[in-house]
Amino acid sequence: MEPLWRESAPGKLILMGEHAVVYGEPGLAIPLSQLRASVSFYPAESPRLEAPDLDLFLDSADLITSEHPLALTLQRACYYFSVHYQTPTHLPALCYQIQSDIPVKRGMGSGTAISCAIFKAFAAYYQCKVSLDEVQSFAQQMDQVYHGQPSGIDAAVIAHERPLRFQRLLAHGGEPPQITFLALCPFSLLIADTGPARPTAEAVALVAQAYQKDPKAAVMIRRIGELVKAAEAALMAGDMTSLGALLYENHQCLQALGVSTPALDYLVAGAQVLRSQGVVAGAKLSGAGLGGVCFALLYPPEALHREQLISCWAPTAQHIYL
Ligand code: MEV
Repeated sequence: MEPLWRESAPGKLILMGEHAVVYGEPGLAIPLSQLRASVSFYPAESPRLEAPDLDLFLDSADLITSEHPLALTLQRACYYFSVHYQTPTHLPALCYQIQSDIPVKRGMGSGTAISCAIFKAFAAYYQCKVSLDEVQSFAQQMDQVYHGQPSGIDAAVIAHERPLRFQRLLAHGGEPPQITFLALCPFSLLIADTGPARPTAEAVALVAQAYQKDPKAAVMIRRIGELVKAAEAALMAGDMTSLGALLYENHQCLQALGVSTPALDYLVAGAQVLRSQGVVAGAKLSGAGLGGVCFALLYPPEALHREQLISCWAPTAQHIYL
């Protein structure tokens, strides 16, 4: 059966600057438009949530009282529209079906993408013209519920679905972050998964502890900021070789901050060997770390057939062309 409405949102990859963005340094992120979370609204006699991938099925009363993140996001979106667009306060009698290709707990923005898709589906259902800034702000509020004090980079890149540079203006408390959309030349990445990551809030808290106790952590954070600025210039100039070296140094800084793992380090070290053979430009972990994914920047593109590269670097890696 065709849904009444379907909306979707992409996954994301932080190219550089994770953790440092929390402290006001810039970060670079890209949407992964090939990997998406989608929300479909079907006719139903009473509200019902179906998330078959998660084996989650909630009927009317359970859906309204449930504290499951998906149920809570639906309730909050419904409440948002009732306050801002004077729509009914109760969840409409619909079947809310949620599906996602974005691997969960990998630092690829699966939860944020679902928040954006749910919000956009309600906007379509109520025929409200919402801006992407509104989508971003709702997703950020939901991220605050689940991740503590997120910088906002995830909500920004997923809501706008464009590569961007993101920077919080900490000195001007309360001001919105600076977001610059980037026009990037096409490039290719391999994303390799080391398994579920620890919660983002835990990784952010680990860095916060280091930041308070150890002056070297603050130096690392500032260094990441400098690397991001250099990476932005390299990206704009299409200088993938320089970008690769910057990625690797960014990984080393994250390692020093304590958010890498032996599995991530192993893959990044493997990519360094391929770099010395001239088939990969660089690699690093992406997202909050403590598990999750890392990526390798393929350059030059014609150096080695990508299947060969996948088999010698990480047999589970996915090839993403941007
Ligand atoms: C998580 O995707 C990125 C972090 O920098 C946290 C944040 O920016 O909120 C680790």
